[in-house]
Amino acid sequence: MNAPILVSYATRGGSTAEVAEAISLALNGEGLRSIVQPVEAVQSLEGFTSIILGAPLYIGRFPKPFHQFFKRHQTALQILRPWIFVLGPTRPIPSDFDAARRQAARQLGRYPWLQPVEIHIFGGRFDLNHVPQPLTLLQRLPIPALRRLPTADIRDWVAIRAWSRVVALNIKSAA
Ligand SMILES: Cc1cc2nc3c(=O)[nH]c(=O)nc-3n(C[C@H](O)[C@H](O)[C@H](O)COP(=O)(O)O)c2cc1C
Repeated sequence: MNAPILVSYATRGGSTAEVAEAISLALNGEGLRSIVQPVEAVQSLEGFTSIILGAPLYIGRFPKPFHQFFKRHQTALQILRPWIFVLGPTRPIPSDFDAARRQAARQLGRYPWLQPVEIHIFGGRFDLNHVPQPLTLLQRLPIPALRRLPTADIRDWVAIRAWSRVVALNIKSAA
């Protein structure tokens, strides 16, 4: 049996977790063996030869547990080059994707020793019913424009599965 692939994610509202699950399913469908874990649950990267990491952007930043993951596993991540996927844009507008790409690059720039194979941006989900408590408080603010923001889910499951297949092919050819 080949070594398992770790698909690990940070999330606040659950949408990145669902993408991580979809990636894992697609990898397994390609004959690989992957496991999914939130970044907080990963004790060690020993035994993994490939790793896929995912996180959402919130006001240009990754959630704290994602940063803590890089600090905790720096030694292993200097050798294991991760594939990274980032959820952000909630409108299918190229400039929003460009902005998310820049935000992600800036966040990862904190780790000059990190050499991801790829940083891939996927559309995300904006739904104030799916964000943790502090953010739901936003809804109560007297900002009508914020309350009127439409719920959106532009996660492109076809693109997510297609990217997963590309990752699978690369992992298989490197084995
Ligand atoms: C308060 C708030 C701030 C956000 N800020 C950004 C941002 O700066 N850049 C971006 O690309 N997406 C931003 N988003 C979109 C999120 O990244 C998107 O909703 C993502 O799917 C959330 O992932 P999660 O459900 O795993 O937490 C923001 C969403 C919210 C609710």
